[in-house]
Amino acid sequence: MPETFDETTTLTRRTFVAGSTAAAGLPLLTPFHLPTPASEPVPVPADRLSTVRLTVNGEQRTAQVDNRTSLLDLLREHLDLPGTKKGCDQGACGACTVLVDDRRVNACLTLAVMHQGARVTTIEGLAKGEQLHPLQQAFIDHDGLQCGYCTPGQIVSGVACIAEGHTRSREEIREWMSGNLCRCGAYTNIVAAIEQTAKEA
Ligand code: FES
Ligand code: FES
Repeated sequence: MPETFDETTTLTRRTFVAGSTAAAGLPLLTPFHLPTPASEPVPVPADRLSTVRLTVNGEQRTAQVDNRTSLLDLLREHLDLPGTKKGCDQGACGACTVLVDDRRVNACLTLAVMHQGARVTTIEGLAKGEQLHPLQQAFIDHDGLQCGYCTPGQIVSGVACIAEGHTRSREEIREWMSGNLCRCGAYTNIVAAIEQTAKEA
């Protein structure tokens, strides 16, 4: 973080990142993400409902969902974990990246019912209380975000990238983070944050 930032600025940015990467429900800035008007819920026949049990961020969670519910919608709409973002909702941007049994998964592309009993880690599960995960802190230190919308997915993916050992060079980090797009173009700083965290791990 530049030394010219005063304490107020630091706290503001920390709050921003923690919120963006935890459970902030930040206002979305693009027309693509404006809330759609509420519509009457369509009743789901009982034979299309399933009870899904998962361990999410270390807690046992259970929800009854339509069998067609994606893991992303389960997290955001049923388990009150909005930190994982919905960008394209079709597997192209990586904003929805979570870890399922320690592997990176695009949560928009997989059904919740396919992960009975799985261990899921979302951005909300990385910090320890008030202490940010080292990669979250590195994103602040390196200004690895601008609007912040892609940031939860970038950080979760970066945590896995480091654990996988795909950090031997900036080129390798770029390759193994290539599924996470950033419309603000913060790539150079994102790679720097992952590189620093990997070196200190
Ligand atoms: Fe899942 Fe874009 S929202 S890949
Ligand atoms: Fe804006 Fe990545 S920081 S999309």
